[in-house]
Amino acid sequence: MTSAAIRQQFLDFFKEKQHTIVPSAPIVIKNDPTLLFTNAGMNQFKDYFLGNKTPAHRRVADTQKCLRVSGKHNDLEEVGVDTYHHTMFEMLGNWSFGDYFKKEAIAWSWELLTAIFKINPMQIYVTVFEGDEAEGLPFDQEAYDEWARWVAPEHILKGNKKDNFWEMGETGPCGPCSEIHMDCRSEAERSQVFGGALVNADHPQVIEIWNNVFMQFNRGKDGSLTPLPEKHVDTGMGFERLVRVLQNKTSNYDTDVFTGTLKVIGELTGKTYTATDSRQDIAFRVLSDQIRAIAFSIADGQLPSNT
Ligand code: SER
Repeated sequence: MTSAAIRQQFLDFFKEKQHTIVPSAPIVIKNDPTLLFTNAGMNQFKDYFLGNKTPAHRRVADTQKCLRVSGKHNDLEEVGVDTYHHTMFEMLGNWSFGDYFKKEAIAWSWELLTAIFKINPMQIYVTVFEGDEAEGLPFDQEAYDEWARWVAPEHILKGNKKDNFWEMGETGPCGPCSEIHMDCRSEAERSQVFGGALVNADHPQVIEIWNNVFMQFNRGKDGSLTPLPEKHVDTGMGFERLVRVLQNKTSNYDTDVFTGTLKVIGELTGKTYTATDSRQDIAFRVLSDQIRAIAFSIADGQLPSNT
């Protein structure tokens, strides 16, 4: 499947579940002083979560251009050094604004990955928020129970506030989340070392692909958590990582999202990309990642300068 076909299948799946498909917001943020660039699919919907605006549709899906180069969500130092972080990436998302909640979000994530994309369930691990005493937040039993309908118990892991409580920035909408991780190692490796032990451990072949956030709170300037007027769903799937999984590659850069750019960099520099950890190959990956980030930022109205 080409990356374009994969993107379309995601959108079609949620369209069938009565979601309205909406365009990506610009990567450059114009009207929110708490952010410079769009860092998540939910940014454009922030006012719906906070109850400041009423959405035209209560179920929405899209693919959002995101940039994570500073602030709370910053992947800049990983880019190119590893094979699965990006400055700019596409985030596939489905949203419920006060409509469905954990049950449907979890069931549909599972259906899309295993029934439509035919991913082997034994290669999937999910995480659930373990709770946080200092914040007065309980273990997410509801998410656990919904996952338990589909996923083997040893593939459901508990995670702490750092990994399983998602926040937009220092302030703003937030809530417990369930991440979906893929174990992309070979069958032989999987039978030797239990994949659950490698989740969230920086293993290059055991990577998060999708996050389901259950928006329930607003983080105030004083650090307090206030319940939102309604409960919402915000999911974000890393498009480039999903493509890598479905195209059966061990690096995002080996998918059709990047191979064309890598080829042109090779032609312009007279060098060859060999997909190793060498400094030259890291440079290839950095260039192919960042030319995309720069092109889209300029197209969305941000001109580069020396500052
Ligand atoms: N907001 C969550 C994230 O960025 C899910 O979309 O990971």
